[in-house]
Amino acid sequence: MTVLPASRPSVHPLASRPSGGYTEDTLALRFIVRTFGCQMNVHDSDRMQEVLRAAGGFAVDRPDEADLVVFNTCSVREKAEQKLRSEVGKLASLKRARPDLVIAVAGCVAQQEGEKLLERVPHIDLVIGPDNVTELPALVTEQMSGAPPTARTEFDVSAPRFLTASPEPGRAPVVAFVTTMKGCDERCSFCVVPYTRGPERYRPARDVIDEVHRFVDAGSREVLLLGQTVDSFRDPELPPPESDDADESQFPHLLRAIAREVPSLARLRYTSPHPRHATASLFRAHAELDVLARHVHLPVQSGSDRVLRRMIRRYTRAEYVARAERLTRARAGLTLSTDIIVGFPGETEEDFEQTLSIVREVGFVSLFGFKYSPRPHTPALRLKDDVAEPVKSERLARLFEVAQSLGAAHLAKLVGTRQEVLVEGASKSEKGDLSRERVQGRTDRSEIVHMEGPGASSLVGEIVQVEVVRANKHSLYAVPTRARGARSPSKRGLPLLETARRAPAT
Ligand code: 5AD
Repeated sequence: MTVLPASRPSVHPLASRPSGGYTEDTLALRFIVRTFGCQMNVHDSDRMQEVLRAAGGFAVDRPDEADLVVFNTCSVREKAEQKLRSEVGKLASLKRARPDLVIAVAGCVAQQEGEKLLERVPHIDLVIGPDNVTELPALVTEQMSGAPPTARTEFDVSAPRFLTASPEPGRAPVVAFVTTMKGCDERCSFCVVPYTRGPERYRPARDVIDEVHRFVDAGSREVLLLGQTVDSFRDPELPPPESDDADESQFPHLLRAIAREVPSLARLRYTSPHPRHATASLFRAHAELDVLARHVHLPVQSGSDRVLRRMIRRYTRAEYVARAERLTRARAGLTLSTDIIVGFPGETEEDFEQTLSIVREVGFVSLFGFKYSPRPHTPALRLKDDVAEPVKSERLARLFEVAQSLGAAHLAKLVGTRQEVLVEGASKSEKGDLSRERVQGRTDRSEIVHMEGPGASSLVGEIVQVEVVRANKHSLYAVPTRARGARSPSKRGLPLLETARRAPAT
């Protein structure tokens, strides 16, 4: 339901990258990992594939070529189990023909439903929660030797494990996802995440910084730090929080340490912060760190204090607006996007109008809008889901209309300007095919920019100076003027391109 240029890529470059490493003497486990949902799931799928490759597996393209199909699922909004049933259903005849095919379900639906899934959805052999991914190869081997269907969904609360990424030089993604924490200690009444991902556990800052280093050394240009409430980060090894404010975390210290220790990183982003932890020290980090993108995705959920209270968001509308203002003032041109739920239990027309008015007041350049859907195990189940479906649809349409006009006005203003674009890969319409010489990238404010023409594919991984010539509905179209900073020596660069390394951020 993205209405405007999303701050989150819905298809990550990694999703289509080739996998390799197969030699004849490795254990030949042919696998497919199918990913649904957020960046956290894209990240988890990448780590899952690394775990499987390390155990001698290799990725294939089609289920009929696979020994193992993993569905990495999301349960935040959709009727997740229905969707899973239909996806697994598509493999039913293959499974009948080849009963040795192992079908595994991972991610939030796996955690949420556990063993019950094995009873309810025929053909599933393995259910594996987000914290049990390292056990995947052993569990698959057991399945292949005839073990009964198994569910493993234990949280690693006392000794949290974080899978370390091992990017291969030259094959690292342009934008690397680096996890900083898992779980969530908020209790937003609509949200299933505390149940499916468990309590907050932080990765040591040292490991986060080292992983950023490894990605950048392997060729990545941008890093997206991931966490359910990424700005609640804590690590006793970092300097103490900058104030006694209870909402103050050590996340700004983590940002500063990355900027200091990995000066060749071109861009640093993070998602998703909770507005509660967007405190003065975070605004200072944005003012001082050149490497930080000039865009923040700051979920507001509603503009009505009454609804925010019932959602247990722990901020008021006025507090959110004040923080948003301080963030946008911290760095010239910084833009905000957001998430909004319409039709939360008890939401009146007046409450909803408050939401429309906060969208205009803050001036979000893009947003994700969702109709409230009751999720299992959430506190809001105690409230009556009393906003009728047609009313939810109508509110969502009105929200999108406002968002669309704000987004369009923002993009229109950029026509004729010069921007710096990090080219991420083939344009989405080309489905990963670079031979059509159509590429897309992002500005440091996350606007999606398309470019085409001979040599365009050689720009992947480079920061290119462009002139914006047209605004599309959700993106921009531009022509390169020159490139700044190549990630690898390019043989086929456009003749106009002159490359230089970015000056280290200070
Ligand atoms: N119903 C609708 N939207 C939801 N989200 C989370 N839970 C629900 C729910 N029960 C939305 C929120 C969140 C985004 C990831 O998904 O807006 O920020």
